[in-house]
Amino acid sequence: MSFKTLDDLPADIAGKRVLVRVDLNVPMADGVVTDRTRIRRVVPTISELSNKGAKVILLAHFGRPKGKVVPEMSLRPVAQAVEEELDHRVDFAADCIGEAAKKEIDEMADGDVVLLENTRFHPGEEKNDPELAKSIAENGDIYVNDAFSAAHRAHATTEGLARLLPAFAGRTMQAELEALEKGLGAPQKPVVAIVGGAKVSTKIDLLQNLVKKVDALVIGGGMANTFLAAKGVDVAKSLCEHDLADTANAIMTEAVSAGCTIVLPIDAVVAREFKAGADNETVDIDAVPADTMILDVGPATVAKVNGWIDQAATLVWNGPLGAFEIAPFDASTVSAARFAAEQTTAGELVSVAGGGDTVAALNHAGVADAFTYVSTAGGAFLEWMEGKELPGVAALAA
Ligand code: 3PG
Repeated sequence: MSFKTLDDLPADIAGKRVLVRVDLNVPMADGVVTDRTRIRRVVPTISELSNKGAKVILLAHFGRPKGKVVPEMSLRPVAQAVEEELDHRVDFAADCIGEAAKKEIDEMADGDVVLLENTRFHPGEEKNDPELAKSIAENGDIYVNDAFSAAHRAHATTEGLARLLPAFAGRTMQAELEALEKGLGAPQKPVVAIVGGAKVSTKIDLLQNLVKKVDALVIGGGMANTFLAAKGVDVAKSLCEHDLADTANAIMTEAVSAGCTIVLPIDAVVAREFKAGADNETVDIDAVPADTMILDVGPATVAKVNGWIDQAATLVWNGPLGAFEIAPFDASTVSAARFAAEQTTAGELVSVAGGGDTVAALNHAGVADAFTYVSTAGGAFLEWMEGKELPGVAALAA
């Protein structure tokens, strides 16, 4: 798909009002932002526009206030964190439309940055109401979308606005789309995907799409147990969706006809309680003791997974291989993540990862920076892996 980027902006944007959709849906505790990753990601776009003299007007949502003003979901405390990361003053308007927005925007000088209040305080945002989009568009000359992680929502500020103003992808959106294109759009082969996490039920569409696109699909985490059980393996007390055996079998059959190898655990680290440091043992996958649960894949499986990563030209990763939050059940995820990072650094692998848990797991392994691209998107990354069209991206099509 082709889309316009900041390189395609008119030469002189000084003084132009640029409405920039960003994702500032950041974790907060007691009114303080606790993780600024998403804020840091949008700094390049804001700085570039501000340095060129544009009036930068930030649009964002926070939480799910369902069309009502919920004071705890105000973006006001986020403005300060944006200001610090940007190293540039950020003003705040108490509404994204109406007098409050207009007054703040009318007072802007070239290069100024203003953050408008939570767009989801208006019911029209999630309904993609053209009237709301029109009211917001009145305050801008140009629209830039730098919020890939909200692009799976067809909302007024992620989709509607792109239809009303000249629309461009911001730098983060551009980087994200380029990385995703390398990951699954037009990847170098062989392509290996690692999918982990607790449940098959949340990732059925994703698995069905992947088996058609990748050469090998590694299934780890709790969801591997559902596949193992469907094949007749006794997973004892492990997390397992036994009712999805038919679904798992159908995915395995589809993989065979698509020429995709499904890689399941051949050994496991088991324990009697889900607790950091719990007594554990490594067993063959067909010898899981009746009173234990699988909390990680074992070393023989890791060697197999790393063998696939070694052969791959492209790796797409969503979801940890084991219960990485509690040591020592983080071992397989850390080992595979480090090996993928080494291969990437050596120029042997394009590695694209995304999803909340995955980012946390790669950070835990200390290798997030060594991957080709790590997406901070949750739902949008999953929908992209499912092969769905994201409305916010489609609306940017040039
Ligand atoms: C996210 O945090 O994944 C995005 O900001 C989208 O938020 P939403 O799931 O509330 O639409």
